[in-house]
Amino acid sequence: MIWKIRTIINRGLNNMNTMETTYSKETTTETDFLPLNGTDFIELWVGNAKQSAHFYKTAFGFQSLAYAGPETGIKDRASYVLVQNKVRLILTSPLSSKGEIAEHHKKHGDGLKYLALWVDDAYEAFEKTTSRGAIGTVNPKTIQDKNGEVRVSGIKTYGDVEHLFIERKNYNGLFMPGYVEWKSEYNPEPAGLLHVDHCVGNVGWNQMNPWVKFYEEVMGFKNILSFDDNDISTEYSALMSKVMSNGNGYVKFPINEPAEGKKKSQVEEYLDFYEGEGVQHIAIATKDIVHTVKNLKSRGVEFLQVPQSYYDDLLDRVGPIEEDMGPLKELGILVDRDDEGYLLQLFTKPVEDRPTMFFEIIQRKGAKSFGKGNFKALFEALEREQERRGNL
Ligand code: FE2
Repeated sequence: MIWKIRTIINRGLNNMNTMETTYSKETTTETDFLPLNGTDFIELWVGNAKQSAHFYKTAFGFQSLAYAGPETGIKDRASYVLVQNKVRLILTSPLSSKGEIAEHHKKHGDGLKYLALWVDDAYEAFEKTTSRGAIGTVNPKTIQDKNGEVRVSGIKTYGDVEHLFIERKNYNGLFMPGYVEWKSEYNPEPAGLLHVDHCVGNVGWNQMNPWVKFYEEVMGFKNILSFDDNDISTEYSALMSKVMSNGNGYVKFPINEPAEGKKKSQVEEYLDFYEGEGVQHIAIATKDIVHTVKNLKSRGVEFLQVPQSYYDDLLDRVGPIEEDMGPLKELGILVDRDDEGYLLQLFTKPVEDRPTMFFEIIQRKGAKSFGKGNFKALFEALEREQERRGNL
């Protein structure tokens, strides 16, 4: 079934009022060959995991959970596992200049390596995807300790990013075999981050559709939403995007590619500085965005800033909302509406020195879309940053 989101709701902000965005919803009963329970963890490969872990605790309110490294018999790396509600974040660094982690870091800087998905059967997930053309990176294996077993497998996706399939139904431990509890005397308050809402990839010129095909054919995802360069363009730069969703909608991967504009697309800037394709942003859900953003700002997290004029006719564009305008305006929180409700969102600046990965904070109040009405204002804010870096 296909229906149309009337873009009239975006009137006044988006100059493409006449455009319609195709939004399709899966209503068939065909069986999902790759059932996913959600995101299991995300793992960043970074230059100094010990310090990154401290940053994510201090700035984002993550809590110490587990550790693996020389003290636990791992010789080539140190990994710190952090948690906040259902978000598990691993920071890993190499212990020498040799090996894939050091190579990855030399090329990309800090970046996302594993987007791990929670499955009921990691062996079957591997078999189902590789038989459909996926390149296997981690052959199915069972790892055990006194708390039971975790089964793991993995496949390649765009760039150097991999999907791991994690099966933990027979495991009662803290995280995974091989990790020990990480006890810390430094436990900053959580910031209300709940779960991964979506995770966006930037791919190269003409690569969006091949990766859409990969997620459709290899992983059984559906393309639920598409934006062309007319939807996502400012005076200067443009991009195209397609949103891929798994059967139950728990896992959503929008995929961006650059489009021709007068100046350099933000996606191109990413590809130049990341030196390849990779994850652009991770969106994390909160149930109180005003609280979360106020909290994160007070901890030093930097957000993109839209002009105050964004709020002048906001309610005309999105209709009535439950939140007071004052705090939204003060914090720079953005609002958009679709046929099913509205959403509030805000984007951080990149969290590394390279202008690469950043985070989105999102609160959904019925809306299932991604804030199309905010694209223009947001991308203009992004371009101002790009220009300050001399990359526009
Ligand atoms: Fe997003």
